[in-house]
Amino acid sequence: MSAEVVLQTCGLAKSFGGLTVFAGLDLSVERGERHALIGPNGAGKSTLVALVSGLLAPSAGRVLLDGRDISRSTPQQRVKAGLVRSFQINSLFASLSPLESLLLALCQRDGLARPSLRALPKLAPQIDESQTLLARFGLGAVALTPTRQLPYGQQRLLEVALAYALRPQVLLLDEPAAGLSTAQGHALFEQLATLTAGTTVLFIEHDMAIVFRYAQRVSVLAGGALLAQGSPDEIRSHPAVRKAYLGH
Ligand SMILES: Nc1ncnc2c1ncn2[C@@H]1O[C@H](COP(=O)(O)OP(=O)(O)O)[C@@H](O)[C@H]1O
Ligand SMILES: [Mg+2]
Repeated sequence: MSAEVVLQTCGLAKSFGGLTVFAGLDLSVERGERHALIGPNGAGKSTLVALVSGLLAPSAGRVLLDGRDISRSTPQQRVKAGLVRSFQINSLFASLSPLESLLLALCQRDGLARPSLRALPKLAPQIDESQTLLARFGLGAVALTPTRQLPYGQQRLLEVALAYALRPQVLLLDEPAAGLSTAQGHALFEQLATLTAGTTVLFIEHDMAIVFRYAQRVSVLAGGALLAQGSPDEIRSHPAVRKAYLGH
């Protein structure tokens, strides 16, 4: 059985002035898998996600989605093509309720920018879908609560829900459990694994217990290169990874 590659970087390179973060990175993500990107602090994990999502331009190399070169597409075009990253809730979204935030995300997805109150009856499908998503993510009871009043665990879950609402082919999550305790982080990934089952997810996470439990494949970024790529078991026992990264 040959797995189908959905996201691929070919010879991807990024430098900031004199600092080369990585040069010539070839990474592939297979359709439907939960794929972890790990590596020491400063290895370039967030930079890689920014290059893939189009927030940063590469110094060299290409990004392919479904075999199509999207290197020159804007972030919005990539979202339309199904490449969606989650963002930390900013101060604007913190003052909105989860229902309002989701409704905005869905209206934007469906090309209904700045809907007016008069258009509200026309938004019934988006309102329905928002409520379905909130129920699915276990946020139904807090649908109308200002997001900043929610526990961090629910705020992080809402961030995933907002990205998931855009029906991604590939969901990019840069430390979705940031700011959570170890137990809360596990709980978030447990939910994530169930809720996004079938969706391709590329996630960055520093807690190795979480990575080895929830990733189906792992890529290790270190020293400006892809040090290894494999199953959690292969990565756990990989000599170079143990030496360079796990520290034993
Ligand atoms: N916009 C930027 N300008 C200059 N240097 C940057 C910028 N973004 C990241 N870097 C540098 O690139 C390296 C990789 O950063 P980053 O991708 O955030 O690492 P990671 O997410 O793996 O911790 C670091 O040395 C960081 O200081
Ligand atoms: Mg980072």
